[in-house]
Amino acid sequence: MPALDWTIDADIRRAATLPAELYSDPRWFEASRRQIFARSWQLVADTDAVRVPGQVHPFTLLEGVLDEPLLFTRDAQDELRCLSNVCTHRGTLVCEHAAVLPALRCRYHGRRFGHDGRFLSMPEFEGAEGFPSPADDLAQVPFGSWGKFLFVSLDPAFPLAELMAEIDARVSWLPLHEARFDPSRSRDYLVRANWALYCDNYLEGFHIPFVHASLADALDYGEYRTEIFPWTNLQVGVASDGEDVFDLPASSPDHGQRIGAYYFWLFPNTMLNVYPWGISVNVVRPLAADRTRVSFLSYVWDASRLDRGAGSGLDRVEREDEAVVESVQRGVRSRIYRRGRYSPTREQGVHHFHRLLERFLRDGGP
Ligand code: FES
Ligand SMILES: [Fe+2]
Repeated sequence: MPALDWTIDADIRRAATLPAELYSDPRWFEASRRQIFARSWQLVADTDAVRVPGQVHPFTLLEGVLDEPLLFTRDAQDELRCLSNVCTHRGTLVCEHAAVLPALRCRYHGRRFGHDGRFLSMPEFEGAEGFPSPADDLAQVPFGSWGKFLFVSLDPAFPLAELMAEIDARVSWLPLHEARFDPSRSRDYLVRANWALYCDNYLEGFHIPFVHASLADALDYGEYRTEIFPWTNLQVGVASDGEDVFDLPASSPDHGQRIGAYYFWLFPNTMLNVYPWGISVNVVRPLAADRTRVSFLSYVWDASRLDRGAGSGLDRVEREDEAVVESVQRGVRSRIYRRGRYSPTREQGVHHFHRLLERFLRDGGP
């Protein structure tokens, strides 16, 4: 492990930014697998993937970082579970394709499991002592949902309810369950930069007037603000005059304001961008210290409001962000640059993220 000689001052007015080597040194990348990604909540699917009893949905948790084979199942009693997808006999993947099945059966030597992960049967094991035992069941993996989104964590450092508490308070009045995935408005971007640089850039609106001319017209930069919560933060996009805004109910803490977008960041690598038309999800998947895949997933509940205001032209904004983040990646390899300072008024979200990285990466946990 590299030397631990850095701190992020709790006072943004005094603090220096993350040391440059954290964005480029493969040893820090390695440490983040165990200390950040295995311990945090990852958005992996939506509930439409497992709608009917008997349905199974295999997936790989964070390909390239954790590569953990997992499985969602819905049993005959309609109960949803997340299980290890690795056969407890000799380690084959139990389920290779999404399907509706009466039980799970490993194709290597025929071990069978229920949708609850329980061992059911296995040929040629008469005489094996102490068999079957609970170790022969498929392990249960912590999971939960918010709206339609399914989150999983191998070893959660905090409950999902804590992660989602503030997001619930702000947008649970929206028709979250009516949102439909729109593949035509979803795509992956390969970014030649560290995952944390991508997040840094997301976490401030400071660069909007410099980098995103089209978005700058839709938002009122003077009113743009960041709110900090324990595991998440929120950038509130106040709309310019004439732009599309939420019809906020009286129960909303923002009632009476002209809000065009809520940009929620969830530690460490999930973004929920909530617009009047629906949600644009960004999942930031690290591939290597200097390579990241960002998935943009659009979930629409009001198609008539697409292509208006801050929630339009997302592909252009993404390409503008990518270019600037890739430029930073080249800069942080410098032998001259080490760290910078924060704007106390415009970079509270970046500071918050770096404080969390300090806790998880430098200190080893929450
Ligand atoms: S590995 Fe699954 S039955 Fe042998
Ligand atoms: Fe941007």
